[in-house]
Amino acid sequence: MPEQMIIHGGRALRGTVRASAAKNAVLPMMAAAILAEDESVLRNIPNLRDVAVMSDILRSLGAQVDSTLGEHGLTLRINPRGLDRHEVPDVLMGELRSSIFLMGALLGRIGRVRLAYPGGCPIGPRPIDLHLLGLRFLGAHIEERHGRIEAHASRLVGADIQLDLPSVGATENIMMAAVMAEGTTVIRNPAKEPEIVDLERLLNAMGASVRGAGMDAIVIEGPAKLRGTEYEPIPDRIEAGTLVLAGAISGGDVTVQSVIPEHLRPLLAKLRESGLEITAGDHWVRVRAAGRPVGFDCRTLPYPGFPTDLQPPLMALAAIADGTSVITETIYERRFSHAEELRRMGANIRVEGRSAIIKGVAGLSGAMVRAHDLRAGAALVLAGLAAEGATTVGDVGHIDRGYDCLEQKLTQLGAEVSRQRT
Ligand code: EPU
Repeated sequence: MPEQMIIHGGRALRGTVRASAAKNAVLPMMAAAILAEDESVLRNIPNLRDVAVMSDILRSLGAQVDSTLGEHGLTLRINPRGLDRHEVPDVLMGELRSSIFLMGALLGRIGRVRLAYPGGCPIGPRPIDLHLLGLRFLGAHIEERHGRIEAHASRLVGADIQLDLPSVGATENIMMAAVMAEGTTVIRNPAKEPEIVDLERLLNAMGASVRGAGMDAIVIEGPAKLRGTEYEPIPDRIEAGTLVLAGAISGGDVTVQSVIPEHLRPLLAKLRESGLEITAGDHWVRVRAAGRPVGFDCRTLPYPGFPTDLQPPLMALAAIADGTSVITETIYERRFSHAEELRRMGANIRVEGRSAIIKGVAGLSGAMVRAHDLRAGAALVLAGLAAEGATTVGDVGHIDRGYDCLEQKLTQLGAEVSRQRT
């Protein structure tokens, strides 16, 4: 049943809120869990739709997945012993981009996989050529037929793999297959995102030998006999950043706890540049806003550059900044659907190719808007916090893919946010 979120803007958010574990760390880890002989336990997992879909995918393959909800999220128990199927159901593939991780994981575990092209947010073409290239280098025979991919490998063998661009998903997929491959694999020009480093840690905790994540080359010695482990993924830097931006855009004073401030550095630097007061400790970040931020320029880049996943929420802030901002999106071709929706709220934004030119306005006004994708949805909720009157954000199912209890967290900070069925 479609739902919408209603935000009554104009309240400065104040207080403390806790970030959940990182969606983009959890999803590859759930796939990695099937590489083990026995059960793995993932703790404090955000209760997200993407996590539920990934659980269903693993169950459809014959793995057992139990989840119990606790104070800080789900405890997921993934037992791959009964896994005996290699076909991922089309309907589940279509719901989740991260389903592609099953390629590396299933090739590593049973040497066979059949799946459709993955779905996900409509933010421009998202090819998987680098995933396929890496897996082929490891010895997989891959055929693309009638919109499906079929791959098999009687044995995987380590290889030296150069990525044309540092794809997060390709790096993770190759890592998962490579731990089961015979010999040494080197991934050059890998993605360096913190979620990659976290996957390395999980795989090593399971008994793999992976080093170099976060650096210029990842070296994997295989094959490993992996055992189940217990693991708590890193905090979600994108969710945390969104909450920091919520404090900033509402002119408030917000502390986000349970974060790794270093992972938020590109955002915090940008916010300082725009005049916001930022302080940070070991596991927390505080933002204090006095008046409007000043306009800024920003360009999304692979880590440690500014994350594309915070580009839409940052644009909401630019919309109310004093002065003109230019935001350039270099990762995705079409990640500006929020610009048009923000315009409905009174923002002055012009999109030219991969750049958005935002002339800050003194105030936004509430409107009926629609979340076309996950981070665009977050941007609209933030804009709603700053707007005068009520903002209704439609299609919030997109937001539920990546933010656990967003409205509860914002309400805890003093926002007036509710949800209703449409
Ligand atoms: N690309 C290729 N070929 C490939 C793979 C990627 O050309 O084989 C291109 C993509 O088209 C894109 C760019 O490389 O233009 C970056 O894609 P990447 O593979 O790095 O992204 P991803 O693994 O598909 C993950 C996150 C995204 C996040 C990106 C970039 C997960 C589950 N998803 O996607 O998260 O935007 O990295 O940081 O980790 C989100 O959470 O809202 C989200 C979209």
